[in-house]
Amino acid sequence: MQRTLARKTLNKVGRKVLLKGWVDTLRDHGKITFIDLRDRSGIVQCVGRDLAKMANESVVEIIGEVKKRPENLVNPNLETGKVEVEIESLVTLSRAGEVPFPLDSDGLEIEESTRLKYRYLDLRRTRMAKNLRLRSKAVQFIRNWLFERDFVEIETPILTKTTPEGARDFIVPSRLQPGKFYALPQSPQQYKQLLMVAGFERYFQIARCFRDEDPRADRAYGEFTQLDLEMSFVTQEDILALSEELFTSLVKKIFPEKKIAKVPWPRISHKEALEKYGSDKPDLRKDENDKDELAFAWIVNFPLFSKQVKEDFYHGSGSAKFAPSHHMFTAPHPDDVSLLNKDPLKVRGLQHDMVLNGYEVGGGSVRIHQPEVQAKVFGLIGFTDKQKGKFKHMLDAFKYGVPPHGGIAPGIDRFLMAVMGEPSLREVIAFPMTAGGLTSVMSAPNQATEEQLKELGIEVSISQKS
Ligand code: AMO
Repeated sequence: MQRTLARKTLNKVGRKVLLKGWVDTLRDHGKITFIDLRDRSGIVQCVGRDLAKMANESVVEIIGEVKKRPENLVNPNLETGKVEVEIESLVTLSRAGEVPFPLDSDGLEIEESTRLKYRYLDLRRTRMAKNLRLRSKAVQFIRNWLFERDFVEIETPILTKTTPEGARDFIVPSRLQPGKFYALPQSPQQYKQLLMVAGFERYFQIARCFRDEDPRADRAYGEFTQLDLEMSFVTQEDILALSEELFTSLVKKIFPEKKIAKVPWPRISHKEALEKYGSDKPDLRKDENDKDELAFAWIVNFPLFSKQVKEDFYHGSGSAKFAPSHHMFTAPHPDDVSLLNKDPLKVRGLQHDMVLNGYEVGGGSVRIHQPEVQAKVFGLIGFTDKQKGKFKHMLDAFKYGVPPHGGIAPGIDRFLMAVMGEPSLREVIAFPMTAGGLTSVMSAPNQATEEQLKELGIEVSISQKS
């Protein structure tokens, strides 16, 4: 007998079906027991007589006949509420122990470290399962939309060299090159630019990025995901228009209940944003309590540099006077190039930030494609010759015919968090890290074994921070 999914029972009145799934809820009325059986499609009520004792969340297999419920017993809150399955036989495939927290609430009331320890259970709750399914749909939509517009999806290395975006790197020791380390990419920024040099013209990737920075509700420590995108022979206007169309169509299709406050999205200069709203990621919703309002905006005309705030922005010499507002590959406004020598803080950059309901959900820019301008910017941000050497491959690549190019990288997690109105990134990620940097369920990081360290030629001596 073939398995029937819970939701499909609606069309099978009068037929015998085989169901498989979890015992979602159990109501034991002595002789008669009601089981809400849950599978990936939904829930259906099953009724049995003289059933053996059973525990919630056990996995069972039920054979029974689908019956139409009498009008007064129809459950309007359940998609399958017009039917129920009369149990003929029930087999327990896997008995569940007592679960550590309730699964029928939204889960936000439960201590987060406990939810993350038992994430595989936490993901059974309706809200979390729905969030991950919507995430999958959104990514599928993005992929199809970009493929239709001639984009190529290309994976880039994870074990690589530093690609600074202003955070600390995660580093991984190499066994074959003892004493040397790979860095995990803070973004695929350099690779996507090299793919433009390679002639692909339109690239994207659903890319994992790694940053060691202090976590906040909307900022992950460790890893997060970007829709990373780059195009050749485009202006800033082209990048904004394409991204705006993509995200507007995505919202219409995947989140039809949401309303975009203003189309086209408002464009606000960085200066105006600060003066008028006191923020470079203003919340432009008319009514912040309206959970379905999405106020997108573009912030443009950023200064190329900000005054050096951290002593040592890229962990280098400490002699820098300027830090890039976005990153060091962002092009200066063509009218301002001559100011690079005279008054760098006055130079505007071709940076664009995508803002949604008070979050910066994406950032990007037109890039520098002239090696001499790139070298100049390296100098202004205070790179020593050694640091410049780390990016020599970019200057080398730019010697061989580089198209003007630019792009953007919306954060998938942060965008979804903002659209779904979730309080933290962790509500849209399957296995996020705790705020203390421990992975869900598996509690990494762990100590390496003696043998591993020996092979790597590494000795560990931890100095206790006071
Ligand atoms: P940027 O550093 O601005 O640009 O990042 C782009 C977007 O990525 C998301 N994001 C994060 N999401 C969760 N946790 C984090 N720690 C985190 N950091 C960033 C945000 C942000 O807007 N290479 C450039 C893009 C480009 O120039 O094309 C970059 O990474 O949504």
